[in-house]
Amino acid sequence: IPVDPFDIVIFGGTGDLSRRKLLPALYHRWLDGQIPETSRIVGTARSEMTTKEYREMAREACETASGKSWDAKAWKVFEKLVEYVAIDATNPDADWPTLKSKLSSNSDHPCVFYLATSPRLYVDISEALGRAGLATPNARVVLEKPIGTDLDSAREINDGVGAVFAERQVFRIDHYLGKETVQNLMVLRFANMLFEPLWSRNYIDHVQITVAEDLGLEGRADYYDKSGALRDMVQNHMLQLLCLTAMEPPNHLDDDDVRTEKIKVLNALTPITGDEAKRLTVRGQYKAGVRGDEPVKGYVDELSSDTQSTTETFVAIKAAVDNWRWAGVPFYLRTGKRLPYRHSDIVIQFKPTPHPLFGEGNDAVNRLVIRLQPDEGVRLYVQIKEPGPGGLRVKSLPLNLSYAESFTVRYPDAYERLLMDVVRGNLSLFMRRDEVEAAWTWVDGLIEAWDRGGTAPELYAAGSNGPLAAAMMMDRDGRAWFEG
Ligand code: BG6
Repeated sequence: IPVDPFDIVIFGGTGDLSRRKLLPALYHRWLDGQIPETSRIVGTARSEMTTKEYREMAREACETASGKSWDAKAWKVFEKLVEYVAIDATNPDADWPTLKSKLSSNSDHPCVFYLATSPRLYVDISEALGRAGLATPNARVVLEKPIGTDLDSAREINDGVGAVFAERQVFRIDHYLGKETVQNLMVLRFANMLFEPLWSRNYIDHVQITVAEDLGLEGRADYYDKSGALRDMVQNHMLQLLCLTAMEPPNHLDDDDVRTEKIKVLNALTPITGDEAKRLTVRGQYKAGVRGDEPVKGYVDELSSDTQSTTETFVAIKAAVDNWRWAGVPFYLRTGKRLPYRHSDIVIQFKPTPHPLFGEGNDAVNRLVIRLQPDEGVRLYVQIKEPGPGGLRVKSLPLNLSYAESFTVRYPDAYERLLMDVVRGNLSLFMRRDEVEAAWTWVDGLIEAWDRGGTAPELYAAGSNGPLAAAMMMDRDGRAWFEG
């Protein structure tokens, strides 16, 4: 369904996110007929560049993202929507009038300002937009994660942006919420009668959420070394997955009902402080190892400086959601870079049957495995009888629902869905101010405990399953990570 014509201004328009995600996402939505021809896409950045040069950069980006399905003719039509204006958002004398002149004078057009810049610039840019008369009631501002580096800096950003834009105009993006399979999590839970009655401490033993990556720093050393896995992945993506898994059914799917349920989960997370952090968390950092057959550098060797960084590239956490539904059910979170392969899974492990009818060794349990990426799908492990006359041998096998086998359509990238939601003004897949702040409150407590504890991350070889301590954390509880 086409959206109404709109304008989008991308700050950081020449950056990595714009090239890898935003421009290709807009191009694909246009190819699908969702973006009307009268819409405008204006890239801005500090560099002096002509619109022609910017279109060329955008073409390369979209061609790379499209691969074999690249359509040079279609691009020629699309590129007419794209323009460039050089703006140094921190300079009061920047060329706002030129930018303004590129935008539609139709005040009904939603105008989206996408801040794909360092979060340090969010407030400056918002204030400049205000001064330039561009923060109209129809404007929307999109803030990329991370919103700050801790609770205080997140509040400063939220206050500063909030002084110019109303909360309903602020779209704090977490691209995990735009992933097809993440949205399917809500459908799976709330459109099936089967799971909800079992979805609690009564039947669930524990939950595992893994986001494993095989890649390393990918040229983002400056950002990553100040951030680490906890701030980069847990504060946002992992906690959002935890919220969608643990939240109560919302009354409706509209903006605030879902977000209100998510924030209740964040507020119920038991703080991890003091010495508890040693028992309940593991930090790791990769050292040199292999990827496939290729040797890969260790984390510190990927950094440009010689500093002996103690930034974690792996984190495992045993979290607890302290409420009626989840009392006593651990939520094990695990994420890391340079692990053996890329996979993101939510594993719901059910309790064993109360009475072992089928004898010793037949103690496999039901497991619901939601594979978010790649090979998107849902597998429900059930026990069945192994065929054969030799007694009742029980085997655990999955009922397998594979997206690729069930649907032949192309899956839109998360940014495609989220950008169109911004244009429509649909906030439900974006984080509310209090949600971001609640996530930081929990994460800040943990960072403080780590800082006080002063322990360095445990090294793990690139291409291995992460630090041994992560396996031992599970082992102590008589459990193991599910490796798929
Ligand atoms: C980003 C992180 O938010 O998510 C990256 O900053 C990470 O470090 C990426 O690689 C993972 O996203 P995806 O969609 O590839 O799982």
